[in-house]
Amino acid sequence: MRPSPPPDLLSIADLGPDLAAIVRRASEWKAERRRRRTAVALAGRTLALVFEKSSTRTRVSFEVAMYELGGHAIFLSSRDLQLGRGETIADTGRVLSRYVDAIAYRAMRHDDERALAAGATVPVLNALDDREHPFQVVADLLTLYEAWGGRFGGRRLAFIGDGNNVCNSLALGAALVGLDFVAASPAGYASPPEVQQEAKRLAAASGARIEWTTSPEAAARGADALYTDVWVSMGDEAETDARMRAFDGYRIDAALLAQAAPHVRVLHDLPAHRGLEITDDVIDGPQSLVWEQAENRLHANKAVLEYFLAPRLASRGRAVPRRTGIVRRSAPHRRRRPRVR
Ligand code: CP
Ligand code: NVA
Repeated sequence: MRPSPPPDLLSIADLGPDLAAIVRRASEWKAERRRRRTAVALAGRTLALVFEKSSTRTRVSFEVAMYELGGHAIFLSSRDLQLGRGETIADTGRVLSRYVDAIAYRAMRHDDERALAAGATVPVLNALDDREHPFQVVADLLTLYEAWGGRFGGRRLAFIGDGNNVCNSLALGAALVGLDFVAASPAGYASPPEVQQEAKRLAAASGARIEWTTSPEAAARGADALYTDVWVSMGDEAETDARMRAFDGYRIDAALLAQAAPHVRVLHDLPAHRGLEITDDVIDGPQSLVWEQAENRLHANKAVLEYFLAPRLASRGRAVPRRTGIVRRSAPHRRRRPRVR
């Protein structure tokens, strides 16, 4: 692990070479939960959850993660904040930083994540925006890490569908940990060129192969894992009709599964639209890891929250803290100079 975490987690690429260690740490937290439910790693820490979009998994797994690490989470719908009445995002970040130790932000636009980070003096953690979904991908990598006995090298993950926030973070995350990745999207719906370039740049260091194609069959052929996500993401609803036409055929069904390796596993970040991007027999079938993947959001969140909020503990690579009964702040409240005045 690097001596200190980055200031914020706006892109999964911000985790850099620490990503693999965070995934291993998430696996430790998962094992620890089977023994007991609460720890003191984040005692005295508070996380604000500022959400502009709906959520089931992200909200609940953040709240439970903070509770089980001895900290506290406050859910703040943007509709209820003064944000909804015109207070600026940067001012909101500046003020929340006076109360809480980090802000998880589910934003409509990636630029708004940057605006919040510019005003905040505590870490801003991207809980999904139109460009990335980093916490999801830490959980996805944990799921594959466990399914494959702790190794990513020599494996290939194929993403079928929209080159959206999930696909972008997957490409970058796979590149960081040395996992081969291919995305199959219809023309005009692939990841943005700058994401593709960044993923390929990161892959050059890890040795991973990262590719984009328009053919679901070519992507699935021999793949060790298939992944899909909704055709219409939150915020894209106005394009629903065009997307339904464009994505027909970009579906994980039995026929596509048959193209993949015999041991293939299937992932979906959820919520799923059964019968569209994935069929019932696949999501409920024996190759599906989808429900394990959903649970893994909790364990992944713990590892990432610890990384940002208890940096000295995490950087020492210590095992899950022993239950001492003594509650200490393991690192000082991190303050940095506001980037906006
Ligand atoms: N996968 C995911 O982020 O789900 P929610 O939108 O329910 O949080
Ligand atoms: N791509 C989806 C992910 C939902 C968790 C969306 O942004 O709506």
